[in-house]
Parts: sequence; structure tokens; C-alpha cells
Amino acid sequence: MAASTPLTFQPILERIAEEIERTPGRGRPADYIPALAARDPRSFGMAVAELDGTVYGVGDWREPFSAQSITKVFTLALDLAREGDELWEHVGREPSGNPFNSLVQLEYENGIPRNPFINAGALVVTDRLHTRTGDAASELLAFLRAESGNDGLDFDLEVAASETAHGDRNAALAHLMASYGNIDNPVPVLLDDYFRQCSIMASCADLALATMFLARHGVRADGTRLLSLSQAKQINAIMLTCGTYDAAGDFAYRVGLPGKSGVGGGIIAVVPGRCTLCVWSPGLDERGNSVAGVAALDRFTTLTGVSVF
Ligand code: DON
Repeated sequence: MAASTPLTFQPILERIAEEIERTPGRGRPADYIPALAARDPRSFGMAVAELDGTVYGVGDWREPFSAQSITKVFTLALDLAREGDELWEHVGREPSGNPFNSLVQLEYENGIPRNPFINAGALVVTDRLHTRTGDAASELLAFLRAESGNDGLDFDLEVAASETAHGDRNAALAHLMASYGNIDNPVPVLLDDYFRQCSIMASCADLALATMFLARHGVRADGTRLLSLSQAKQINAIMLTCGTYDAAGDFAYRVGLPGKSGVGGGIIAVVPGRCTLCVWSPGLDERGNSVAGVAALDRFTTLTGVSVF
């Protein structure tokens, strides 16, 4: 099917859900944040949102899940909109080729994280947004509520507390960067903000709509512009090259879209100028990406021919 052919996405989503239902291996929910471990790996939902706000969905597409690292896309956008290119003096734009929570490159590279989507880079972005707003997580929540049209979105403070109790790795990353002068706020303040940010509960429908500003080249749901055309392109490019960590090459090969995963099992993806997607299934592969989520996005771009390539 050519990308220009008008498509009704609903039958495609239903076909994908049937295929996923028949697929045996689903991976395992994240257990390093104990509050996430209880989710059923057989859960599956998928939503596609069009530029006009029409949303198609299948399975558990209205079920809220823990957004986790998906939120890094939105905090990056909110910070870039405020501070512009100065951000890039504090965080890079290259794939790391390492796991999302890795420490190894940080010392070699003088406390400047490779990109804004690994945990170290996201901590820098949250730190900078915290300095500018006093509360990055609340700024993020307000943005997600406005873009999704869902005022019911909220933090899951139980998940945030669970991550705080098991947050040694993120604390180590933040302290190491602070020792290089690349973190402005006290580490406990930063971690509290970051863990609340990650704990936001939202559904596939909510997150597909909230991602729409990237398909609209920087324009928000109310018609105002958050990012320049160029900044929206830049974020999409970083999602393509870094959004699924050390699996980004394989994700680009299989799916062919800018995407961002989270250990709650969600993945968002963008077709600039066309639509956004969000898929959720809590079982993860060893790199922290949803097994059924990647498979479903792979099937979507394969069946529709809709991709950036
Ligand atoms: O900081 C963490 O480890 C989690 N709050 C988020 C990690 C995450 O979602 C990585 N994504 N696949």
C-alpha cells in the first residue's frame, strides 16, 4: 500500500492485535522498579492518532500504564523550547550504544551524557527544566494533560516511591555528573523531580495525542507553536537514533520511525506530517523495550508502508 493512499487504520490495528495475540513470547515486565513488576505481560494496546485528533485503537489502548522514559521526549521538548541550543553544551546527540542506565561513558566524556534519552541525559534535561520552572514534573504533567485533553492524567506516587527506594543507579549517575558541574540542583531534589516525571500514568490514546506536536512539526493541540520546524525535526531525529538505546539500530531497521520506549512497556512513534502511534505491552526484552510493542510497530509500518523511509 502506498503511503499516500488514504487509510482507515482500524482494520490494520485489529489485524495486528490478532497476530500479537497468537505470538507466544512476550518478555518480562521490569522488576528493578518493584511497583512495575506486577503488570500482566499479556496486556496489549495500540493507538494511532491522526493530525486532526482522530484516534483509532485496539486492545488495552485506554488502559493507563507507567510512561517512564517516554516522558523524556516531552521534557526535552519543554526544555529546548525554553533554552534553545544552549542545552547542547550539557548533553550530546549521539547514540550511546550502551544500556539506558549505563555509567561507563560518563567519566570518559567528562560528565556530558551522550544523548537526552539515556538516563544520564534525561537527568540533565530534568535538572535544567527544574531550574527554569521549579518543578519539571508538574510542567510536564500540565503539558500532557493539555495535549491529550485528559485532565485525569496524574503521577503514580507509589511507583515514584518504589523507584526512589531502588534509585541507586540514577543517584550514581546524577552525583557523577554533579562532580563535573553538569547538574545545578541538589541531587535528591533532582531525583524526586525525575522519578515523579517517570511515574506519570497515561494510556496509548493519551500518549499518541500528546506526541502529536512532533507530527505537526512543533505545533501544539491549541494551534500555538512549542518548537520551531527545525527543533521538531531535531527531536524526531534523536528519537530515531537514540530512542530505544542500544537497540536503536534494530528499531530503525524493523520499524523505520522515530520512536521512544519506556520500561513500563510503552513505545511512542511519529510519522511526521501524518500521524502518531503508541503501543503498550509490559513484557520487555533485555534492552528494556516492549517485545510485543516493537513487533506491533514493525507490523504496522510493514502492512501500511507508512514510515519515514
Ligand atoms: O530511570 C529509570 O530507570 C526509569 N525511571 C526509566 C527507564 C526507562 O524507561 C528506560 N526505557 N526503556
